[in-house]
Amino acid sequence: MTRTLVNNIGLLVTNNSEHDGTPLGIKRNSSFLIENGCIVWIGDATSVPRADVANSVDAQGRCVIPGFVDSHAHLVFAGDRSEEFRARMAGEKYTAGGIGYTVDLTRQATNGQLLQSGRRLMAEANASGTTTMECKSGYGLNVEDEARSMVVAKQLTEETTFLGAHVVPKEFKNSPEDYVDLVCGPMLVAARPNSKWIDVFCDKGAFTTDQARRILKAGMAQGLLPRLHANQLEPGDGIMLGVELGAASVDHLSYFDDEDIEALSTSNTVATLLPAAEFSTRGIYPDARRLHEAGVDVALASDCNPGSSYTTNIPFVIALAVRDLHFTPEQAIWSATKGGALALQRKDVGHLAIGAKADFSILSTPSYIHLAYRPGVPLIDEVWRNGTRIK
Ligand code: NIG
Ligand code: FE
Repeated sequence: MTRTLVNNIGLLVTNNSEHDGTPLGIKRNSSFLIENGCIVWIGDATSVPRADVANSVDAQGRCVIPGFVDSHAHLVFAGDRSEEFRARMAGEKYTAGGIGYTVDLTRQATNGQLLQSGRRLMAEANASGTTTMECKSGYGLNVEDEARSMVVAKQLTEETTFLGAHVVPKEFKNSPEDYVDLVCGPMLVAARPNSKWIDVFCDKGAFTTDQARRILKAGMAQGLLPRLHANQLEPGDGIMLGVELGAASVDHLSYFDDEDIEALSTSNTVATLLPAAEFSTRGIYPDARRLHEAGVDVALASDCNPGSSYTTNIPFVIALAVRDLHFTPEQAIWSATKGGALALQRKDVGHLAIGAKADFSILSTPSYIHLAYRPGVPLIDEVWRNGTRIK
């Protein structure tokens, strides 16, 4: 049996509170053993079981953290919208309408082109420490192009999400209810074989709460699991709808009130914050302290997409969360690892414990705090997934 030993870890983040009584479960001067892609032993650097170790990695006192779990990304699209970004920085407002430009280009692209572009983004994400990444459709917006977007998504990740309800495409501008019928009917049937999740952009300029309820329920009836874009552009009922339907996560949440917090805190629905979207749209950063104080599980994700957040870089998201959303560094690391895993209802990733997948990063620094303290600097030295080094 080949085993890999990771030794001399100065500071190990496990997300297992048994180690130190805190959510990050920090262990100092530690080691762990990997077998068949999973962790089989964690202990002190001084008590390593040496038998059968084929491969030994010396962390040289550096910090090791679980691989980031990026639970919200749109990776299947063609083109970019740098001109729209330029206009926004000059004062124009972000609206859901820009999505239509990407839809035109995506419909013209071949599956090979979409896959190549998705793989490039996935490789960027991996190089910055992401080892699990969700991927949505949503730039096809007809039966054929949504179905093939899901085929491409499935080639990128197991965490695939059907987002036929991203916006109403121009062909249905005057009959949005007919588009909702299409999404709930033939489009869902065509997308379902490659979809784990169903999502709706429930916001100003996209879908109403009633339409979102209808679409999510149709997906759930076909075995898909619900998640929801909510309250990005204005306050609304999206968070309450997500909680009502038992969504794994409600995402964006630039706007929320006491009732929303109460509903989240008494549910299993994760609140996923996407501060790179606020950064790129000059939006309002939510104050995460109110969620944390109420005991809500909070995740952080990239929202990588060509319009509102064209980044795959979770360390950047962590830096924003600490600087502008009032996360502590500990809360930000937890949210980008364990929080993301909860948002995808995954027990095997987002933490480092016996039986968990050996998905982790070795930082160049002695502490995880540097991810916020040294923004923009590439601090991820090595990335491992399933016990294999990928960077
Ligand atoms: O998550 N909110 C909806 N969808 C994307 C934006 C997509 C786009 O502008 O292309 C988001 O921000
Ligand atoms: Fe999104």
